[in-house]
Amino acid sequence: MLNQTLTEKFKKIQTPFYFYDIELLETTAQRAIAEADRFGYKIHYALKANSNHKILKLLSAAGFGADCVSANEIIRAVECGFNPKDIAYAGVGKTDREINTALDLGIFTFNCESLPEIENINHLAEKKAKTADIAIRINPNVDAHTHEYVTTGLEENKFGISEWQFDEVAEKIKLLKNVNLICLHFHIGSQITDMKVFETLCKRVNEIQTTFERFGIKLPHLNVGGGLGINYQNPDMYPVVDFKSYFEIFNKNLNLHSGQQLHFEFGRSIVAQCGSLITRVTYVKNGRQKNFVIADGGMNDLIRPALYQAYHKIENLTSTKDAKIYDVVGPICESSDCFAKNEPVNETQRGDILAIRSAGAYGEVMASQYNLRELPKAYYSDEIEQ
Ligand code: LLP
Repeated sequence: MLNQTLTEKFKKIQTPFYFYDIELLETTAQRAIAEADRFGYKIHYALKANSNHKILKLLSAAGFGADCVSANEIIRAVECGFNPKDIAYAGVGKTDREINTALDLGIFTFNCESLPEIENINHLAEKKAKTADIAIRINPNVDAHTHEYVTTGLEENKFGISEWQFDEVAEKIKLLKNVNLICLHFHIGSQITDMKVFETLCKRVNEIQTTFERFGIKLPHLNVGGGLGINYQNPDMYPVVDFKSYFEIFNKNLNLHSGQQLHFEFGRSIVAQCGSLITRVTYVKNGRQKNFVIADGGMNDLIRPALYQAYHKIENLTSTKDAKIYDVVGPICESSDCFAKNEPVNETQRGDILAIRSAGAYGEVMASQYNLRELPKAYYSDEIEQ
């Protein structure tokens, strides 16, 4: 919770910066693990959402595995305490260098997205006299009903292997001696708020699992990815997502065989609500059609509004005046450098401190130095409050 004491501290720090509520992160992590444990499910934290050392150390200690998309993420995960045996590695374009790193560490699965990739992993594993455990990433052709840029489970997307390729891939894998197929992997998109989508996914997973069994392939693991959406409108009312109802959907609809382990890959639902981008108002520019709040944070610090037209709630932490309608923009030389249009914010003046909420996932990790700006720093509640 962002309170008065914190605001006084924020005033003394150079803005913009990311602020993380560690208590909320701990609560979220514990709740996710506790609800997953009820069904014996394993959660891998998707590092791409936020790969800060402190956050990763907390999550590895809480009992998460990791979901990585580059060798650098794998190395970071191991540095921060994740067991390589709990690391799933996805991505359509794994390079030889990256595959070799993962082979040396001995990860849980290479989540493979194409036949050429599987053949290459087999080849590289053979050179090291190793056998790589792999998952096939399936493109189940399920519409996630989310933004097109974060939809991944449709045939038109570049991800995964589609149904018409299954028999060819299954036959080929049986011939390859240095890969061992242990898992089917699915991830259909991100910021999914329509829970029916996950029911549909379960039904597709059941069908596809049956198809693979017909090929004589039995799988000890299933991985259904991430995608669980959060509430960007009301972060204080919904600080932690409803993991219980979410897992119940899988418990009810997915046919797990006895001894088969179900895996999830959560990014946003674990870290989004604990982070805010804190920025200071440089100018307020009143126009005839619009009033602009010009903040010192920009699209280089938090690109989600510009890239996905994403909504983030904006709070003026220093004003108690009535709300006015503003466009809240950054200093970057692009019209897309806009955090919110026609947003009600307490009447604002130069020097006020704003919190752009729910920015813990895909915020700091997507920051750039565009316009030769500095990368935003990170501050944590348990350090700042001492
Ligand atoms: N597993 C795989 C294979 C993924 O590609 C992703 C996210 C996840 C798990 C984690 O999904 P989550 O639980 O966070 O929804 N930058 C975008 C989101 C991109 C998501 C990419 N893949 C945004 O800011 O909305």
